[in-house]
Amino acid sequence: MDRTAPTDHPILPAISKRWAPRSYLDTPVSEADLRTVLEAARWTASAYNEQPWIYLVTRKAEEADAYAKLLACLVPFNQSWAASAPVLMLACARLNSAGNGKPNAWALYDTGQASSAMSIQAASMDLHIHQMAGFDAAAAREAFGIPEDVMPISAMVLGSHGPASALPEKLAEREVAPRSRKDAGEIFFGGSWGKGF
Ligand SMILES: Cc1cc2nc3c(=O)[nH]c(=O)nc-3n(C[C@H](O)[C@H](O)[C@H](O)COP(=O)(O)O)c2cc1C
Repeated sequence: MDRTAPTDHPILPAISKRWAPRSYLDTPVSEADLRTVLEAARWTASAYNEQPWIYLVTRKAEEADAYAKLLACLVPFNQSWAASAPVLMLACARLNSAGNGKPNAWALYDTGQASSAMSIQAASMDLHIHQMAGFDAAAAREAFGIPEDVMPISAMVLGSHGPASALPEKLAEREVAPRSRKDAGEIFFGGSWGKGF
């Protein structure tokens, strides 16, 4: 199943190959591959080099209890498909600057960048990440003792994508639906506000 983005202009293959599957194979992600994917987040740029991201990493086999605990924090819809993936993570951001203790206005932005780097790194290795806003942040905070000044932002699975046919019918349809994006003129303004570039 080729889900490569039908781009208007040529882009890096790992970016056009990245997509967010809901069907995953049982195949575990090797520790070396997992560490490589995480390393891409580690080397992401961040405001003042604060590196505000913290990822809670759970593998279905090795951290089985933690994996189950994190899975239980997902909304039922996400639980219904995410449990097929071998790795389940939680992207969190430290909200205050380590330097001066003041709120870091870029903490979420930077953490999103780190997650994006991981997703692109994963795609370059024929692995896939699916991020999920659909989880109970308060439940995750409670389950893992996440401190007040750290915000759980997005759950994410990592694994090798499986066949759409392994999903229930409605999800299988979404898995193969055409990929779409806004037109460039709606999101890039050239020189003046509202003027499509
Ligand atoms: C921060 C974030 C939260 C998301 N939350 C969910 C979610 O809770 N459940 C889900 O099925 N997909 C979720 N998605 C996946 C998006 O729906 C998906 O990325 C989008 O439709 C674009 O598709 P693509 O990633 O395959 O290009 C999320 C994606 C991001 C980046």
